[in-house]
Amino acid sequence: MRAFIPISQPSITQKEIDYVTDAVKSGWVSSLGEYINLFEKKFADYCGVEYALTTSNGTAAIHLVLDALGIGPGDEVIIPDFTFIATANAVSYTGATPVLVDIDPVNLCISPSSFESAITDRTKAIVPVHIYGHPADMDAINSIAQNHNILVIEDAAEAIGASINGKMVGGLGLCGTFSFYGNKNITSGEGGMITTNDRELYEHCHALRDHAMSKSKRYWHDEIGFNYRMTNLQAALGCAQMDRVNELVGKRRDNYTLYEKFLGNNSKIRLNRTNDWAVNSYWQVCVEIRGLNLEERDELMAKLKSLGIDSRPYFYPISDMPMYDSVDTPITHDIYQSGICLPTYFDLSEDEIKYVCNSLIELI
Ligand SMILES: Cc1ncc(COP(=O)(O)O)c(C=O)c1O
Repeated sequence: MRAFIPISQPSITQKEIDYVTDAVKSGWVSSLGEYINLFEKKFADYCGVEYALTTSNGTAAIHLVLDALGIGPGDEVIIPDFTFIATANAVSYTGATPVLVDIDPVNLCISPSSFESAITDRTKAIVPVHIYGHPADMDAINSIAQNHNILVIEDAAEAIGASINGKMVGGLGLCGTFSFYGNKNITSGEGGMITTNDRELYEHCHALRDHAMSKSKRYWHDEIGFNYRMTNLQAALGCAQMDRVNELVGKRRDNYTLYEKFLGNNSKIRLNRTNDWAVNSYWQVCVEIRGLNLEERDELMAKLKSLGIDSRPYFYPISDMPMYDSVDTPITHDIYQSGICLPTYFDLSEDEIKYVCNSLIELI
């Protein structure tokens, strides 16, 4: 009997165990310790930015940046309707309104023309999301944003290792935010990161991350901050993963190539599409099955599960959730119903990918 194939699992080697053990033994178990600075340094170098700041998770990273930029009640922040809920919730935490717009049908990231149409005199920022590992069209987004004086914050939670024209995501806007949840390309257990070249923004985020404690007067606070710190233990895990980041991202790409080999010719299946200007990090292997509705999709996932194969549905449109206003986003509403993500992780074998693909082909 074949072992169950999960949708995702982290790759933990002796290096991860050694670094975390070292951190535990050092006694620096909270948010002070050498692994924090090291993780930030390694990550900034990898993304090609001046500054990187660890946070407790990716949601906190988005909230922290928005707060540091002074975004609040009365402001509007444009985001894609097709994303994980964290992008919208982080905007809501500030009291600003997330304005949900449609996506590009090829790369599934925010559509630059929908962004432009949604701009009002209250628009303060845009948070393009590099969905499932594909970078959003940052050239177009940056040029529209510049014309309208709008701040650009990349939600790169899902796209560690993706790039455009040789420049890594996280360094393509004013700042970027990342997640290191256990299913991401690299993990620190829970965790997040802010990347930027803007020193003032970095310093403000740095202070706000730790309750905005004064540097010169301990336990004095000039504004309301947060405890959004990462622990040294998490950073130790993150450092080990950063030492392996090229092999970890590389394996995602190899997995995708195999999926393409085994599924590519099937006319009912549409795999991830990558624009020629983009380098995809293939966080998820995405398949859209022509004509599938929600009921059929759930049935397909249940059948895969009975064959020992895990999968996950595409995100529901944010605008369908009860907390957010309904909007007319036809592409988002069309695509989410027929899409599922298939297993991809470091230890997945070619034989397992072949089994997943053959099972899927038989079921559809
Ligand atoms: C697009 C996107 N943004 C933000 C987040 C939030 O990250 P975290 O789960 O670390 O809070 C995620 C998490 O998975 C995500 O997929």
